Amino acid sequence: MTETRPLAVIVLAAGQGTRMKSPLPKVLHPVGGRPILGAILEAASALGPQRTIVVVGPRQAEVAAFAAAKGAAAAVQDPPHGTGHAAQCALPALEGFAGEVLILYGDTPLLTAETLTRLVAAKAGAALALLGFTPDDPGPYGRLILDADGGLVKIVEAKDASAEERAVRLCNAGGFVLDAGLLRELLGELTADNAQGEYYLTDIVTGARRRGLKAVAFDAPADDVMGVNSQQERAAAEAVFQARARAAHMAAGVMLADPATVYFSADTAIGPGTAIGQNVVFGPGVSIAAGVTIKPFCHLEGVSIAAGATIGPFARLRPGSVIGEDVHIGNFVETKAATLEKGAKANHLTYLGDVSVGAGANIGAGTITCNYDGFFKHRTEIGAGAFVGSNTALVAPVRIGAGASIGAGSTITKDVAADALALERSAQSEKPGWAARFRALMGARKAAAAKKD
Ligand code: UD1
Ligand code: CA
Repeated sequence: MTETRPLAVIVLAAGQGTRMKSPLPKVLHPVGGRPILGAILEAASALGPQRTIVVVGPRQAEVAAFAAAKGAAAAVQDPPHGTGHAAQCALPALEGFAGEVLILYGDTPLLTAETLTRLVAAKAGAALALLGFTPDDPGPYGRLILDADGGLVKIVEAKDASAEERAVRLCNAGGFVLDAGLLRELLGELTADNAQGEYYLTDIVTGARRRGLKAVAFDAPADDVMGVNSQQERAAAEAVFQARARAAHMAAGVMLADPATVYFSADTAIGPGTAIGQNVVFGPGVSIAAGVTIKPFCHLEGVSIAAGATIGPFARLRPGSVIGEDVHIGNFVETKAATLEKGAKANHLTYLGDVSVGAGANIGAGTITCNYDGFFKHRTEIGAGAFVGSNTALVAPVRIGAGASIGAGSTITKDVAADALALERSAQSEKPGWAARFRALMGARKAAAAKKD
C-alpha cells in the first residue's frame, strides 16, 4: 500500500454527450435509479477525499446543482476542448491542495469503491497509476502501450492509432492517480496536436515518461468501468447493474421468485427472508424489513415496509408511504404519504393519499381519500380499529375516530367521533311484491307484441 496521503477527486462531466441524443446531460442519465454521476461520486466518496470537484459544461446548471447537492464543488469548462482541458479547468478549485489526485471520467456508472481502492494501491512505487481494462471489443477506446517491463509508455486514442496499436486490447477506462504538483506540471504541457484537435488528458502519461517517471496500468474488471456514450450503452450498463443487484440481494437471503423480472435501485434495502414475486419494480428510496411478502406486479418507490407485511399483487406504493408491521395491502391499492400502523388492512381497490391509518383499521374496497381540492392537499386521519365500509369517499381534511364505523357508500365530509357509526346515503325504501307484479305485466306485453308480428 502507498502511504496514506490526502486525496482530491476530479470528475470530468463537461462533455456534450452528443451521442446520447438526449436533452438530459449524459451524466444525469440514470442507472439503477440514480444519475451516472451520482454513482461515481458515491464510489469515490468511500475513499474519503478532502475535496471533490466536478467539471461541468456551459449550460449545465443541472449538473452543477446535482454536484453541489452531493457536496462536490463545480468547475465550469467553457467551451469544452477535451478531457485534458477539462482537468485544467479543475485546477483553480485545487488551489493549495497537496496530496494525491484521482481523476475520473463522469460516464462510468458501474465503478466500485473497491476498484478505485485497488487503483490507488496500484500506484505504489510509481508516479502515476491508470485505470485500464481489457474489453472484448476495444473499438473506440484509447489503447495502452506498454514497455517490456509492463510500464505504461503512452495512451493512443483509437482515432490516432496505427493498425498495430489498434490491435492492442488493453484500454484506457478513464481513471488517473498522481501527485497534485505533478498533475499541474503535466497539464501545463498538453497540446491539441491530434486527430480531434483536443487537449487529451491521456497525454499526461507521455509527459510523465518524458520525465523518466514510472506509470502503471491497473487492469480492472471490464464490467466495472464500462463507459456510457449512447442510449444503448446506458441500457447495457443498466442490465449489468440489475444482474449485480439481483445476485447481491439473493446472496443476502432475499427470495426472488424470478430474478430476471425484478428491478432494483442502487439504494434498495431488503431484509433476509423477504419474498419478492415476479415483475416487481423498486424505484429509489425503498427499505423493506426481513420477513415481508411482496406479491407479483408491484411498483414501490420511497417507501418503508416493516416485518410481516404483505403487499400486492398489483400494488403501487408511492413516496412517503410507511407500512407498519403485519399490514396487508392488496390488489389495486395505491398509497402516497400514507402511514399504516400495525395490522391495518387495505385489501382491494383503494387510494390512500396524505393519510394516517391507525393500528388494526380496516379499509374497505373502493375507499378513496379525496386529498386534493384542485389547489391544496389535505390530510385524512383514521383512528386505530376503525372500519371504513366499501366505496367510501373521505373528503379531507377529515378525521375518523378510533373504533368508528363508516357505512358503505358514504361520502364523509365531517369528522366522525370514536366508536360512532357514520352513514351518508339516502334511506333505502322497499315495495313488497313490486318486482313480481312488474315481471307479470311486462311478460304479458311482450307476448301480445309477439302475436301481432
Ligand atoms: C475517453 C478517453 C479514452 C478512453 C475512454 C474511456 C481521452 C482523450 N480519451 O474517450 O482514452 O478509452 O474515455 O471511456 O481522454 N469531458 C469533459 N470535457 C471535454 C470532453 C470530455 O469534461 O471537453 C468528459 C465527458 O463528460 C466524459 C469524460 O470526460 O465524462 C470522457 O469524455 P468522452 O468524450 O466520453 O471520451 P471518450 O471519447 O469516451
Ligand atoms: Ca466516454
